[in-house]
Amino acid sequence: MEQIEKERFFTMAETYDAMAQTLVPMYDMLQNEIFNIVPFDKHQKITVIDLGAGSGILLEKILSLYPNSTGYWIDFSDAFLDAAKDRLHKFNDRVSYILSPLEDDWQIQLKRRPDLITSVSAIHHLEHEGKIALYNKSYNLLNNNGWFINIDEMKTLTQEAYKNSLVYWVKFVDNAREGITDELMDYYNKWKNHFDNWRVRNIENIDTPKIKGDDLHESFLNQIRWLQEAGFKNVDVFVKYHLWCLIVGIGIGDVATEVTDSSNLKVILLLKQLT
Ligand SMILES: C[S@@+](CC[C@H](N)C(=O)[O-])C[C@H]1O[C@@H](n2cnc3c(N)ncnc32)[C@H](O)[C@@H]1O
Repeated sequence: MEQIEKERFFTMAETYDAMAQTLVPMYDMLQNEIFNIVPFDKHQKITVIDLGAGSGILLEKILSLYPNSTGYWIDFSDAFLDAAKDRLHKFNDRVSYILSPLEDDWQIQLKRRPDLITSVSAIHHLEHEGKIALYNKSYNLLNNNGWFINIDEMKTLTQEAYKNSLVYWVKFVDNAREGITDELMDYYNKWKNHFDNWRVRNIENIDTPKIKGDDLHESFLNQIRWLQEAGFKNVDVFVKYHLWCLIVGIGIGDVATEVTDSSNLKVILLLKQLT
């Protein structure tokens, strides 16, 4: 199926990087909650994957807070890759970049199993089957008792409350305008142009069937069920703020912890899928 407005992932990178922390409600708060949830010691050598990592804002936080950690940036946009490289170059080889659609076999490029897989505002772009496949893959990849955390735009229990959460974001962006400095006004206007299309697609055409690349919002109830069906334990919604939910699952501790190269990883993955 053709992706709708796919080019926005390649033209919006600079604008998104400049404005997300101002124009996505509770953007930093939701990400910072991760550090109130995961049990890792500050000095632990954790490996992190960020799915749809964009300009690397979350990876920057994680790599700064855990100085012995390493991270994988995974995303399909070369424009976001450039923005992420600018932001993350200070971490040198602690970051590996995998330019790939989330639906593809990016896992064969991993050299280490992750202890933490995160994603912010990305998985809602995948189709139903793509989301389920990604949850299954994440479960199969995670190290013993590894954590999976998805912060994303999700539908809620009623269509009325869902619509309300969409309208809230539009008002939030409108109200933010008066706090935007002259320097950032160009970025604000570019965001607003893009967001006007978002509003038409998601609010005015709320009943029009969505297609790949659109905002394929799925209910948090379905998504926590998919995590449970993938095998995750302690699956729950830890935070919900209007359109955004932070959902969590913990991998079951029945996989090998040490993986030295990607071919070995693939074998272990296959074994786990078979058992
Ligand atoms: C709204 S941005 C969020 C970026 C970042 N996670 C953040 O919160 O700042 C969505 C990101 O998902 C990426 N993305 C969307 N669909 C994707 C797909 N099918 N495969 C890989 N990346 C995708 C886009 O390129 C973009 O970087």
